[in-house]
Order: sequence, then structure tokens, then C-alpha cells
Amino acid sequence: GGAPSGPKPLAGRRVLVTSGPTHEPIDPVRYIANRSSGKQGHAIAAAAAAAGAQVTLISGPVTIPDPVGVNTVHVESARDMLAATESALPADIAIFAAAVADWRTADAAGQKMKKDGKSPPSLALVENPDILATIAAREIDRPALVVGFAAETQNVVDYARAKLAKKGCDLIVANDVGGTGVMGGDANTVHLVTTDSVETWPTLPKVDVATRLVAHFADLLAHKG
Ligand code: CTP
Ligand code: CA
Repeated sequence: GGAPSGPKPLAGRRVLVTSGPTHEPIDPVRYIANRSSGKQGHAIAAAAAAAGAQVTLISGPVTIPDPVGVNTVHVESARDMLAATESALPADIAIFAAAVADWRTADAAGQKMKKDGKSPPSLALVENPDILATIAAREIDRPALVVGFAAETQNVVDYARAKLAKKGCDLIVANDVGGTGVMGGDANTVHLVTTDSVETWPTLPKVDVATRLVAHFADLLAHKG
């Protein structure tokens, strides 16, 4: 017997997903990170595979397992994530669920930094490349459907609209991370934001959000022809 097989709306399609945090080195033993668990992005990759897609998942450092049936590429930093994402093209749908570190240290130390009895070191930071905006702006191999995520603690829909315009993606999945329990938790409340529409979904387990998102993306792609 095998697993029950449902409809395969993404059969023959290629899907790219970024997921998890990135780690930006300070020195060989320390890094800058964030609270992303990768649960939502990994669940989307698994749901896309279940829908018949050929899936590449570019994962930052997470503690959850690689989804079954998905080609998972492990990276650490934002710059590595960008390179791996570009290498995974072409794709029909690209979904940017990673919580990419906005900044990295200007110059990571080559050796472990030591307390020297003087004042604590200050970290000079520089901005990381925007992976979503870079892929959305491509003239060659731009995926037909480019989806961004926006984790916000206030003005969720307004900020999502601004991000949609700034990054040039087709859709933003906005989630409210203001309450406790979303980052690392198993449930998510999302708003699907385009230039002229907002659809708010009920709070659902992240795996159910993933299944519904993938079905929605498959519909959008089918209507793009
Ligand atoms: N993103 C990305 N590369 C970055 C920063 C963000 O690909 N260097 C993507 C995220 O994966 C997400 C979307 O851009 O899909 C929005 O990320 P977010 O952190 O909400 O937006 P920022 O533009 O970084 O704005 P801010 O953090 O200041 O709100
Ligand atoms: Ca950010």
C-alpha cells in the first residue's frame, strides 16, 4: 500500500522555499540569530511536495528534520542563502518564508574574541542582501509567482502592502507575531495581501496554513497560464 495520494495540482511544477533563521558570524564561536523555528516554511515545502511539485528547500539552521520528499539545502548566513536560492532557479513558485537576518557584522573576527579587561567590543553591522527583492527583480528566470512573508507586531496589513511594493513580489503572507507563541509555536494567523485585496484566515495549525497556502498558490499559478 503507500500513502494515500490526493490531487496533485503542482505536478510537473518546481517550487522553491526559503525557511528558518540565518546565522551571521561574530567570531568562530558566536553569531547573530533570531527566533524563527522554520516550522511554517518547512511545512509549506512538505505541502508543495505532497501536491506533486519538485521542491527545493533552502533552510537556515533549524532543529526540525528535513521534510520527506524535498531536496533540502542547508545554509548558515544570508549571503549563503542568496547564493543557494539563485542556484535553485528556475522555479515556477518561490516562497520566501525565511527570517533572514537584516544585518551581519561588517567584519567577523577570525579568532574567538577574548575579554581583555577593557571595555566590551562594539559590533559594526552592515545590511544583508534582500533575497526576496533580488529574486523578484530578476529579468531572467523570475518565478511566475513570488511570495513574501511579513512578520509584524503592529499595523500588519499596512506594513505588508508597503513591503509588497518595495520588494516587487506578487503576494505577501502577513502574520501577526505581536502575541506570544507564534514564533516557534504551532499555530499561525495570516493575512494574504496583494495590491488590491486582503484575505484574513482563521488561526490554524501551521501545517494546515501550509496546505491551504499551497492550494491557493497552485490556483494562482494555474490562472497565470
Ligand atoms: N527577506 C529576504 N531577505 C532579507 C530580508 C527579508 O528574503 N535580507 C524576505 C523574508 O524572507 C520575507 C520578506 O522578505 O519574505 C519580508 O521580511 P521582513 O523581515 O518582514 O522585511 P524587511 O524588508 O527585512 O523589513 P523589516 O524587518 O525592517 O520589517
Ligand atoms: Ca527583516
